[in-house]
Amino acid sequence: MEMTPQKWQNTCAYLRDVFGAVGCTGSDAKTGRIARIDQTLRGWEERARAAGLPPIAVSPDVGHFLTVLATLATSARNATGRIVEVGTLGGYSAMWMARGMLMSEGSSSPRLRTIEYDPKHAAFARAEFERAGLSDVVEVIPGAGLDVLKRLAPELGPASVDMVFLDAEKTEYQGYADLSRPMIRRGGLLVADNALGSGNWWITDGAGSHPDARARDSHAAVDAFNRAIAADTEFEASCVPIREGVMIAVKR
Ligand SMILES: C[S@@+](CC[C@H](N)C(=O)[O-])C[C@H]1O[C@@H](n2cnc3c(N)ncnc32)[C@H](O)[C@@H]1O
Repeated sequence: MEMTPQKWQNTCAYLRDVFGAVGCTGSDAKTGRIARIDQTLRGWEERARAAGLPPIAVSPDVGHFLTVLATLATSARNATGRIVEVGTLGGYSAMWMARGMLMSEGSSSPRLRTIEYDPKHAAFARAEFERAGLSDVVEVIPGAGLDVLKRLAPELGPASVDMVFLDAEKTEYQGYADLSRPMIRRGGLLVADNALGSGNWWITDGAGSHPDARARDSHAAVDAFNRAIAADTEFEASCVPIREGVMIAVKR
C-alpha cells in the first residue's frame, strides 16, 4: 500500500480524533483521582499557551499511548512503581504517565521523577501537578538532563525503574540512555519521543537534508540513537510512527 502525504495527514487526524479524547467517568477513589487528572489535562493547553510555553508537548493521542505504556510497565510482577522522564515542559506527558501509574494494579505508592532545566517550565509544571492532585506522585527535579541522571542513577540504584521517557535535548538521547540503562529493571521500558522528527519530519522523499543546522544535528543524533538501540543486545526495540514517532525498547 502506498502511503501519500495526504493519507498520512488523514491518518494522523484520525488518530488524534479517535485516540486523543481525554475522558473518564466513575466514582470510586482511584477513578476519582484519574478524573481530576483528566480535568487538568483538558485545560492544560490553554493555560500553557497563556503562560507562554512553547507548543511542543506530546499530542493527546501520544498521551494516551504513554498512559498505556506506563500502566503496563508499572503493572508487572517485578514492577517498582517508578518512572523517570527527561524533559518536563509543563507536565503534560508526565500527567498522562501518572494517570497510567494510578490505573496500574502494581504500584501502591507510585513515583514519577521528571527533569527540567528551565525554571519557568518547572514552576508551571509543579502548579499543574498540584491542580491534578499529583503532588505526592510527581516530583520535578530541576537541572540539566545529563547532570541529574548522573546523580539519580546511583541514588535510585540498579533495576529500580519501570520506565524512562526521553523528551529533552535530542542530541543527548544517547547520553540519557547510557545513564538510564542500569536503572531500568528487566522487562522495563526505555521510551523516546521524536524518533522520526522534531518540529519537522526527518524521513523525506528527497535528500533529507534540512536548511536548519539544529534540525540536521537532531536528526543525525536521533538516527544514530535509533540504530544503536535497534542493534543493542540488551534491548528489544521498535518504533510507532504516531505524531513525530515514539521509540519503545524493552530491557531483556
Ligand atoms: C519537548 S519539551 C518536553 C515536552 C513534555 N515531555 C510533554 O510532552 O509534555 C522539552 C523540554 O525539555 C527541556 N530541556 C531541553 N533540554 C534539556 C536538558 N538538557 N535538560 C533538561 N531539560 C531540557 C526544555 O526546556 C523543554 O521544557
